[in-house]
Amino acid sequence: MAVVPANKTSIENAAALLRAGELVAFPTETVYGLGADATNGEAVARIFAAKGRPRFNPLIVHVASIAEAQNLAEFSPLALLLAEKFWPGPLTIVLKRRPNCNLSELVTAGLETVAVRMPAHPIATALIATTGRPLAAPSANRSGHVSPTRASHVADDLRDKVTMILDAGETQHGLESTVVTFDRDQILLLRPGSITADELSDATGAAVERTLKASTTPISPGQLASHYAPTARVRLDVTHPVPGDALLAFGPHVPDHTGPMLNLSETGDLIEAAARLFWALRTLDLSGAATIAVMPIPHDGIGEAINDRLNRAAAPRP
Ligand code: TXA
Ligand code: MG
Repeated sequence: MAVVPANKTSIENAAALLRAGELVAFPTETVYGLGADATNGEAVARIFAAKGRPRFNPLIVHVASIAEAQNLAEFSPLALLLAEKFWPGPLTIVLKRRPNCNLSELVTAGLETVAVRMPAHPIATALIATTGRPLAAPSANRSGHVSPTRASHVADDLRDKVTMILDAGETQHGLESTVVTFDRDQILLLRPGSITADELSDATGAAVERTLKASTTPISPGQLASHYAPTARVRLDVTHPVPGDALLAFGPHVPDHTGPMLNLSETGDLIEAAARLFWALRTLDLSGAATIAVMPIPHDGIGEAINDRLNRAAAPRP
């Protein structure tokens, strides 16, 4: 494994590795992704092996343009409108896979649908364009663990299972993309993210249905209840932490506490809190505390996505 600063030369080297079927981790505006050539079945199989990811959980295919996405998937007018409004950006759209597209079957876990996204990070788009292939990329963490928002998180989780990690510092949003699909003229929210349900409906006039509570029989495989889990137990909505807990605080009014503590946002800014969430969970976990106690986080806007991740970090583990 080599961690290298992302620049023109390292992107060219990374693209050559990807074309040869190797795994390269790269930054996106959401989290770091573990990339492979989505048209190469063996390369995609390496992603599942490196993460310890169940084969039934399909991957997002990253593209550098809307036209490229249209070669892979069938876009309805509503899907196209969403792509035009939000791409490049943190929105993943699940669509019917084109029968003659050259994606590996493994990418979509045998489903008839494919999840596509055009990321907004300049390193990600340069890498996809230089490779000249669509890139399959889940978050670059061990399956079930906290997603990586820095190159060092990828190195901690995947070590020698990844050939190269392109380092471009901290990611901007800190939470994975919003994932949507459709039911006739409705948008179905499969995973909340930094593009909120209100933004989706305001941009399109379409209704947004939240089908999805974390469950054991998900429509979207990534809705598995336990996910994003640190080693410590996670307790939510805590207003009176126990001494020795690691406290994940939020906002200006923090209870007295003896033990490790990080504040997601001292000013109560949810966007800042989202960007810091996974880093904070990883850092508090390293303190060795048995429990991470999380103060209440409001559900408005991106708060919905933060609470989605926290609920799954706190869910009973398999
Ligand atoms: O922000 C992100 O989306 C990051 C960066 C790297 O782009 N990627 C990411 O990938 O979070 P991953 O694999 O950790 O999450 C993909 C989610 C999973 O919940 C998966 O079940 C769902 O998308 N998904 C993928 N293909 C699907 C499909 N065909 N139908 C339904 N859900 C799908
Ligand atoms: Mg993930």
